[in-house]
Amino acid sequence: MTHTSILRFPDGFLWGAATAAHQNEGGNRNNQWAAWEQQPGRIHNGAVAGAATDWWNLETAAADFDRAAELGLNSLRLSVEWSRIEPEQGVFDQTALRKYTEMIGLLRARGIEPMVTLHHFTDPLWLTDLGAWENSRVEGYFTRFVARVVEALGDQVTLWCTINEPLVYAYLGYLGGYFPPGVNDPRRAFNVLRRMLLAHGRAYRTIHRLQGNARVGLAHNVRVFLPGDPARAADRYAVALLDRIANRNVYDAITRGRLNPPLGLGQQVTHLIDACDYIGVNYYSPGRAAFDPARPGQFFTRQFLSPKAELSDITPNGEAYGEIDPHGLYLALTQAAAYGKPLYITENGVPDHDDDVRPRFIATHLAETWRAIRDGADVRGFYHWTLVDNFEWAAAWSLRFGLFDFDRETQTRTPRTSAAVYSRIAQANGVPVNLLEQVAPGYGSGLDAGS
Ligand code: FCB
Repeated sequence: MTHTSILRFPDGFLWGAATAAHQNEGGNRNNQWAAWEQQPGRIHNGAVAGAATDWWNLETAAADFDRAAELGLNSLRLSVEWSRIEPEQGVFDQTALRKYTEMIGLLRARGIEPMVTLHHFTDPLWLTDLGAWENSRVEGYFTRFVARVVEALGDQVTLWCTINEPLVYAYLGYLGGYFPPGVNDPRRAFNVLRRMLLAHGRAYRTIHRLQGNARVGLAHNVRVFLPGDPARAADRYAVALLDRIANRNVYDAITRGRLNPPLGLGQQVTHLIDACDYIGVNYYSPGRAAFDPARPGQFFTRQFLSPKAELSDITPNGEAYGEIDPHGLYLALTQAAAYGKPLYITENGVPDHDDDVRPRFIATHLAETWRAIRDGADVRGFYHWTLVDNFEWAAAWSLRFGLFDFDRETQTRTPRTSAAVYSRIAQANGVPVNLLEQVAPGYGSGLDAGS
């Protein structure tokens, strides 16, 4: 580490922040999350997204885009809200589409390349009434919506993310009961996941039909599992099984077109073969897994946090959000890279209200990204979750992920130290070694930086 001063990233690397419509726009009342927020006991402290960070007001959005540009970011991931664009089944709102055109124009005017997500957890209420992603017609509904968006925004957008975290939508909504519709039924969860992957494939084809130079992928919430006891074969088996179910099944579906159990019987779906131009990796923390014969419903596995690990902020259920482990990102990237596609880190971040961890978190996760690139992963961009603290779903305003602190009462944004750290990295197109040494003393010596 003495012979290099920067962990340099490839030319043209995208340095971004990731956001989502319902968490930022405010005023979304026509989707299933807004309805869920009205139900007692669903959201921490009974909170609602409400005005959120007020991005539907384009002046506010523009001011935040200025903040991103001032940090030196050259990309921003944002989503469009289906329930605004298609408020009733088959009825498309041109005013909403025009507003998104303007919003994206504001990014472009600042030299910020948009990555547009077409589905980020929220469904219009009309779709909820039809059974949402359990309805066999959802693929058709989704692709019709996607086509309208691409026709409207295609002049300004070529980087598309079809669906954010199908696994999380399916699991938390249909296995944990933590997200709407609050169901607990594995069969339904896997059915939803399968339909989302199939719909991704249709959306992929639709976008390419409309736009020759599109780059289309989905954002997968990578679960990096570590064995509870590495010496125990049963725990290693638990890890391999969970890895197959949570990660490899998704990659196999969108690259090889295979629907492996429990998503299918191993059949190959033509429209899913090679259905991505990149894989979007969302990584926050690893999970520990152990074999547990008492849990047949969980594939005989138990997941837990290591008491020895460094933990991030506590969620409303009293547990830490996750373990902090930059090396997990290296593992996530090298695993995904083996599928032969370019990668974007579509989300990475940490809930850290006092920002005592985030500066180190950012620098070390990017150091591990650099190492994965050195070892052959074709990583094209990194999106920190998130720019300004926003509505964190069921945890509402209690988890703070922003580079900017957000005061909901006054709508005031205040930059955290981590904003300056990320800014230095983005502007240098790499991690300056002295910065890494400053925020994570000793970390660089394990990296074998080369020249
Ligand atoms: C991801 C979601 C994103 C945000 C972060 C913290 O799972 O995609 O909307 O909530 O977690």
